[in-house]
Amino acid sequence: MALNPDIDYGTPASKATKEVTLTIDGVEVTVPEGTSIMRAAMELGTQIPKLCATDMVEAFGSCRLCLVEIQGRNGTPASCTTPVAAGMVVHTQTDRLKRLRKGVMELYISEHPLDCLTCSANGDCELQDMAGAVGLREVRYGYDGARHPNPGLDTSNPYFTYEPSKCIVCSRCVRACEEVQGTFALTIAGRGFDSVVSPSQEQPFLESECVSCGACVQACPTATLNEKSVIEIGTPDKAVITTCAYCGVGCAFRAEMRGDELVRMVPWKDGKANRGHSCVKGRFAFGYATHKDRILKPMIRAKITDPWREVSWDEAIKYAASEFKRIQAKYGPSSVGGITSSRCTNEETFLVQKLVRAGFGNNNVDTCARVCHSPTGYGLKTTFGTSAGTQDFDSVEQSDVIMIIGANPTDGHPVFASRMKKRLREGAKLIILDPRRIDLVRTPHVEADYHLPLKPGTNVAVVTALAHVIVTEGLVNEQFVRERCDWDEFQEWAAFVADPRHSPEEVEKISGVPAEAIRGAARLYATGGNGAIYYGLGVTEHSQGSTTVIAIANLAMATGNIGRQGVGVNPLRGQNNVQGSCDMGSFPHEMSGYRHISEDATRAMFEALWGRPLDAEPGLRIPNMIDAALDGSFKGLYIQGEDILQSDPNTQHMSAGLAAMECVVVQDLFLVETANYAHVFLPGSTFLEKDGTFTNAERRIQMVRKVMAPRNGYEDWQITCMLSDALGFPMQYNHPSEIMDEIARLTPTFAGVSFAKLDELGSVQWPCNEKAPEGTPIMHINGFVRGKGKFVITEYVATDEKTGPRYPLLLTTGRILSQYNVGAQTRRTANVVWHEEDRLEIHPHDAENRGIRDGDWVKLTSRAGETTLRARITERVAPGVVYTTFHHPNTQVNVVTTEFSDWATNCPEYKVTAVQVSPSNGPSEWQEEYEELSKAARRIAEPLIAAE
Ligand code: SF4
Ligand code: SF4
Ligand code: SF4
Ligand code: FES
Repeated sequence: MALNPDIDYGTPASKATKEVTLTIDGVEVTVPEGTSIMRAAMELGTQIPKLCATDMVEAFGSCRLCLVEIQGRNGTPASCTTPVAAGMVVHTQTDRLKRLRKGVMELYISEHPLDCLTCSANGDCELQDMAGAVGLREVRYGYDGARHPNPGLDTSNPYFTYEPSKCIVCSRCVRACEEVQGTFALTIAGRGFDSVVSPSQEQPFLESECVSCGACVQACPTATLNEKSVIEIGTPDKAVITTCAYCGVGCAFRAEMRGDELVRMVPWKDGKANRGHSCVKGRFAFGYATHKDRILKPMIRAKITDPWREVSWDEAIKYAASEFKRIQAKYGPSSVGGITSSRCTNEETFLVQKLVRAGFGNNNVDTCARVCHSPTGYGLKTTFGTSAGTQDFDSVEQSDVIMIIGANPTDGHPVFASRMKKRLREGAKLIILDPRRIDLVRTPHVEADYHLPLKPGTNVAVVTALAHVIVTEGLVNEQFVRERCDWDEFQEWAAFVADPRHSPEEVEKISGVPAEAIRGAARLYATGGNGAIYYGLGVTEHSQGSTTVIAIANLAMATGNIGRQGVGVNPLRGQNNVQGSCDMGSFPHEMSGYRHISEDATRAMFEALWGRPLDAEPGLRIPNMIDAALDGSFKGLYIQGEDILQSDPNTQHMSAGLAAMECVVVQDLFLVETANYAHVFLPGSTFLEKDGTFTNAERRIQMVRKVMAPRNGYEDWQITCMLSDALGFPMQYNHPSEIMDEIARLTPTFAGVSFAKLDELGSVQWPCNEKAPEGTPIMHINGFVRGKGKFVITEYVATDEKTGPRYPLLLTTGRILSQYNVGAQTRRTANVVWHEEDRLEIHPHDAENRGIRDGDWVKLTSRAGETTLRARITERVAPGVVYTTFHHPNTQVNVVTTEFSDWATNCPEYKVTAVQVSPSNGPSEWQEEYEELSKAARRIAEPLIAAE
């Protein structure tokens, strides 16, 4: 728990495999070729004074503090920019060097404000440290010299300040923004003494291109860029390593505390997913944990129209259990079910499905992954044999061609996007399949080689057309296919895709993508070297979501882009633990590790340990539960950490189903929208208040560690245990590590996982077992998990959701960087400054035809419902396509999405809804009603919140 900051080695590690040996201050050291002298010295524990160098960015050599002497060479070269050489003899501590360094520091200090004692970085300032390190005791030039230009304190960013008077113009911030984040928002304006750091065109940070990732703040050696939380609370005195609870990148952080207060989240350099970087959400948007809206006491009510009544934990749990028992006695064992959360830990998710299968005695368990990546599970299991992505994130550093399909990484998976952009700046080629001009189509120093702006709903046609080019132009990697895949199935598939109806020219008619662009993209992917595919919900959330995943897998197998670094098929998972919630057996038909519930041997294993018989029949999926509720056969639901009312499609249908139930138990942080239909509210705990693990998009299992005591009194896994006990199926665990031990015992792919191993290694990627005791970074290296890779025919079937005279436009939806899904957390942080409301993007042509101006209120209507929001006119979307985010409940864009879903998995077709857009005067009737309902809910809860 001590602060133990990450060691700064001064310059990045060299990736060379050849090693050289040199002598530094009389001691021999062996390091990879290309390592700087500064880093080699650090390997020996010798810190050469430095200011402009940090191991986040390449050496710059501007401050001249890190000078060394090298035997046989003239002068005093900078150790940060001088690479080691075999046999080199280096001195870092001679009298001459000490004199020179002191002189450099004198110059820095002579123009620096001398307010160290009251400075927010006092005790955490490298300038201060270096003055001490070089033994500076006096400044010959006095302290009254000229100062740097000081354009004034910039507090515009909600999370950090910029105080130019303290800047030493080391340029670390500028380089961090370029090299680490890839945004290029900062420059050094002016020359010489008048140099100053400038966001964009000398704008305040908030108005600049800055995306608030915080890399510059982390890099700054002084208080020039500093977190507001540090200024308010003080410098931290202890730290806990944990994992971000937002997206599927799974950034590891040092949660730095002062006393019981969380001061800041600093990306952990040893985090293998993020390598010391983060985005605005993980680094800064943690204030929701202490937001006044958090409900900390359990509440119950007999009817959803009654006011909430605050009760003890004991009463709430007993009430919920007795209701579930009453319902099962009256309506049958299958009349209740549960929903696990992709926001909760693996251990918590495992317990919820255990409660349902063994406590309720049915398989009516499902998860929010149903509505995002269930087609990934189906498609990749069918073709490769494992329901997960094939690579680790490091793999992208060796990709030559990157194909992004239906994903917007700079907004959805920002830290991985930064890593990807770095590779693209190094020269990798880029292909993007997306109806919208996402940022990566053109962003500083990155430009897509091909952007295929396909009409929403035509993924299968376009990906099959890519395959058509590969097959008909002889670009198949036949050796790979013969060795690794089923040859007969391949031939059948090849004949299918070679059919002229799958040619780019034919598919252009359906998709709107020029045939030449499809041909060019296919050739590039097949022949450009290591080809990696990254995809997102723009692939899965379709009526043919599973088919597209299969089509992508076919493409990778046909070109041999599987089973080594730099290639692969990589679903960019949305939520922090969406991979984990699927792994843990949250789907009605699968136990942990994706084993079908009908497998006798699998069930027997669980039955033996749990001491309860398990039903061999798959249970209900979320949409089936809602349908069954409306039919009167499903009456009780335990929902841990998912706001199904806001996140699932066809809101009216969902609310009617929830309203038809007799006992809805919501376990959450806030009175989320679904809680309007709940009878029992069990306060949940945040990721800062619990121990456990999350599994990110790379299959990487990482520790979540308790930073503070649960404000609600219990971690979520404890609440599930209490409910299960009350249901008569006791669960006894002293710590989540014991739950992981049970998971490992029951799940072959997790057999080698334990908290002790995670503590030791930092993280592991499953499968982790006897064969791979330290995990599996790259899958399918020597063969596919299922044996031979399976080619599957992917017949394009147009969605039933068709445009026509009434609904002529296609709506597609997505996320924005600063907000997260239904916004329950991010809307309760200062991130709202970037996205106060959901807006509808519409092409200028479509807007003009409808008399809509930028910022106007518009009505968005589909055959499912209508909502209103304001318009943003932009060429990011093609004519005929409109786009919006779904972060704000007062927009509830899922009011207009339909009940169509993926044929294999029921994943909703969020990405294609036929709509009409027309001018409007303001919010529609239901939105006004909703505002009233929300206000009423607030009024009911307000006294309880105020009592906290
Ligand atoms: S916060 Fe990130 S994007 Fe903004 S200036 Fe700093 S490094 Fe660049
Ligand atoms: S703001 Fe900080 S990191 Fe940037 S140049 Fe100034 S002192 Fe260096
Ligand atoms: S990229 Fe994802 S995991 Fe990383 S800090 Fe941002 S939200 Fe968290
Ligand atoms: S640290 Fe080497 S020149 Fe600044």
